[in-house]
Amino acid sequence: MRTPITAAELRHLFIEFFKSHGHAEIKSAPLVPENDPTCLFTTAGMHPLVPYLLGAKHPSGKRLTDVQKCLRTGDIDEVGDPFHLTFFEMLGNWSLGDYFKEEAIAMSFAFLTEKLGFRKEEIKVTCFAGDENAPKDEEAASIWRKHGIPEQNIYFLGKKDNWWGPAGQSGPCGPDTEMFVPLDRPDCGSDCGPACGCGKWVEIWNDVFMQYNKTLDGQYIPLEHPNVDTGMGVERVTAFMQGVKSAYQTELFRGIFACIKELSGREDADYDCRSARIVAEHMRAATFLIGDGVKPSNVDQGYVLRRLIRRAIREARKIGITQSFTNSIAAVVISEYSSVYPELSQQETVIHEEFIREEEQFGKTLENGTREFNKLIDRIPEFVAKKVISGKHAFNLYETYGFPLELTVEMAKERGFEVDETGFHEAYEKHQALSRAGAEQKFKGGLADQSDATAALHTATHLLHKALRKVLGEHVAQSGSNITAERLRFDFSHPDKMTPEQLTEVERIVNEQIQKDLPITCEEVSLEEARKRGAIGLFGEKYGEVVKLYTMGDFSMEICGGPHATHTGALKSFKIVKEESSSRGVRRIKAVLG
Ligand code: ALA
Repeated sequence: MRTPITAAELRHLFIEFFKSHGHAEIKSAPLVPENDPTCLFTTAGMHPLVPYLLGAKHPSGKRLTDVQKCLRTGDIDEVGDPFHLTFFEMLGNWSLGDYFKEEAIAMSFAFLTEKLGFRKEEIKVTCFAGDENAPKDEEAASIWRKHGIPEQNIYFLGKKDNWWGPAGQSGPCGPDTEMFVPLDRPDCGSDCGPACGCGKWVEIWNDVFMQYNKTLDGQYIPLEHPNVDTGMGVERVTAFMQGVKSAYQTELFRGIFACIKELSGREDADYDCRSARIVAEHMRAATFLIGDGVKPSNVDQGYVLRRLIRRAIREARKIGITQSFTNSIAAVVISEYSSVYPELSQQETVIHEEFIREEEQFGKTLENGTREFNKLIDRIPEFVAKKVISGKHAFNLYETYGFPLELTVEMAKERGFEVDETGFHEAYEKHQALSRAGAEQKFKGGLADQSDATAALHTATHLLHKALRKVLGEHVAQSGSNITAERLRFDFSHPDKMTPEQLTEVERIVNEQIQKDLPITCEEVSLEEARKRGAIGLFGEKYGEVVKLYTMGDFSMEICGGPHATHTGALKSFKIVKEESSSRGVRRIKAVLG
């Protein structure tokens, strides 16, 4: 018999189960990938593990488990319905060239039946049907049969359903087997199952058999050591286990909705209310993003964060919250999630500061937008027969002033105007196509780019980090790094613009270390040991964990996942091409090697 469990119990059951099967628990990586230029956010548990899935040695061993914070922005406009979330938590277990299908499926089966209490008759599974890149996964199916899953509950589906990855344009990927359990309602027909799409069968776990490395030119190269990567969504499974329709009805959101109700003074501002859901979801995601060092801005991660906050503010107004409110909700998120994600309470002050600032700034933006709107209306001559605001103008209000179409339409109506909504959507689509092209650019280079060029730039980042600390002081700490095959970009804490003299000195120090052709070594040591030796870059690791320590002669010692050049001479020469502000208190340097 199944008993309802909380999210905390689910996390605990999962992690302990895999620990008891020889897995080391690792810490959730930040939502912003470290040293990965190809994606804005961590989108799956496997994402921070890509180098290891491709063969690098992980310091914690070959069997890992964790709960990973994830953010996916693809469905951001869908948030508000009962199902879509931008931020979610993913439980996972990994075999890095250790066990494969037999053991992975046996453990999944045991966890579902023994720990979550599912009967084997109520589990349906899907396996890969095969295509020109990989054969039909008879092996996975026969393992399921062995565990007693009835033949008619095993489905074979194509690449669209039963293949996972790569996360970017290239990298590890492979066929998967997915596990489904039924909602308590009648079948839609005689062949009701994972493929019918009626929604009765809920996917609760995905075991990916990462056997291939997809290259940028579209080839699937078999990996020397195949891996297992699994993912179980905490929100979805918690809701299922509690027999409720959506994550919004679970304790994961209960405190947040209580806060929203109080702020709005409306009893109906609850999990059934679309605006309240958007406020709850976006505020939870935004709090986690700021907790991981993202600040609202007009580019990249900062832009997504800004969109989340501003959409939350607009929706809050619709349910009567006109006062400043973001910090009240952020405080609930921090207090409820800090036991699992302690970075939230550690960053509490920054989170509160950023929300206050963004809320104030958005208030001003709305004011300016209203002024712009009035000017626009005043320019349209009185005598025109049809009073219409063009799609282009409506889109400009949306894009520049954050005015959603509904707001423009509403304000226009008050003044006796109509809005060319078709024109607005055309302008919007055109813009989306352009930003998609931009996003695809970001994926170029591939998530798994481990070329010599990127390794050398990565090494240069360590030298730069150390040189900055020498020239500017010990307060300098990395707050972001982004490397493409052409250049490095390094964000670090420092309050002032650097002077030309400081830049020249940093460049000179780095080049001096390159000329010395220092050997680069990598050791695996405990975090305590690394700290004792004075290593820098302790972010994102957990007490007691084994870490990789990269040493460059006697110049730099930094905790890092690699990869790196083998000696500094490989960098040839180092040149800073730009120094600018990244956000408040954070400077950004772009540099190249030559
Ligand atoms: N990486 C797989 C997923 O996200 C497990 O579903």
